[in-house]
Amino acid sequence: MSFSSIIAEDARAIQTRLDQSMAALSNEPVVQAMRYAALGGKRLRGFLVLESARMLGIAPQQAISAAAAVEALHAYSLVHDDMPCMDDDDLRRGQPTVHVKWNEATAVLAGDALQTLAFELLCDPALGSADARIELVKGLAQASGAEGMVLGQALDIAAETAQSPLTLDQITRLQNGKTGALICFSAQAGAIIARADPSPLRAYADCLGLAFQIADDILDVEGDATKTGKRVGKDADAGKATFVSLLGLDGAKARALDLVQQAEFHLRPYGERAQNLIAAAHFVISRES
Ligand code: IPE
Ligand code: IPE
Ligand code: MG
Ligand code: MG
Ligand code: MG
Repeated sequence: MSFSSIIAEDARAIQTRLDQSMAALSNEPVVQAMRYAALGGKRLRGFLVLESARMLGIAPQQAISAAAAVEALHAYSLVHDDMPCMDDDDLRRGQPTVHVKWNEATAVLAGDALQTLAFELLCDPALGSADARIELVKGLAQASGAEGMVLGQALDIAAETAQSPLTLDQITRLQNGKTGALICFSAQAGAIIARADPSPLRAYADCLGLAFQIADDILDVEGDATKTGKRVGKDADAGKATFVSLLGLDGAKARALDLVQQAEFHLRPYGERAQNLIAAAHFVISRES
């Protein structure tokens, strides 16, 4: 099966699990907003969970709750990222953002509830022993918290009003936090479920996460909103610190390609079994959305 068929099939399974996890909830506006925010997207993080698991002999049905968990957490981060106090965006996944369709209070609360839903999903006994599930909970908490995504987001907002441009090291720290940490956790989740050594997957995903965010920054400059499903051309106006702002488009593209090659190198211990993760790395920098 091709990479595009596999990620499409995984995306369907993730949507089904997310729908199921919210099926018994009420139809209050905050829940409607959660369901809305959990729809669509590429499901790259969920794919990384399912594929790292598959590569290590774990069936998708066994890992699906962890894939849904990272996508719920990611959906929360997008709802908050789009709010007026953050990036102030009105379009996400081709639809009005949550605070535009509802209001800011609903967007804050729907994001909060998607975040707690993520941790509820990680309690699913199908994911393995209590030890394995605690490791997943801790890993997701660390990746999304004050040393991970939240830190990266805070640095991203602070950089908009910084006195001088950030250095390469500072931008790398920012991007490793806001995007890299959750991607890194996603790729390691399969190893946690399989009780295998996650270190090659961590090294792979460190490079992948950075390449992913560089591609996102390039799409903000060169992309087409009808394909990305979000507004483009906003980062420079907002004074965002990105690899593009520091290295220029060509420099950023060269850096992303270099990172993809490094990502591929780190998968060598898995041999042929890593072919779908290698394909994912190439997809990350060639995507149009
Ligand atoms: C967008 O993530 C936010 C970033 C971290 C750059 P994605 O590009 O994975 O968004 P979806 O989930 O496919 O919509
Ligand atoms: C968002 O980064 C990262 C998180 C949501 C954690 P961006 O602000 O660059 O993402 P887009 O471009 O709005 O999708
Ligand atoms: Mg942002
Ligand atoms: Mg944004
Ligand atoms: Mg962006």
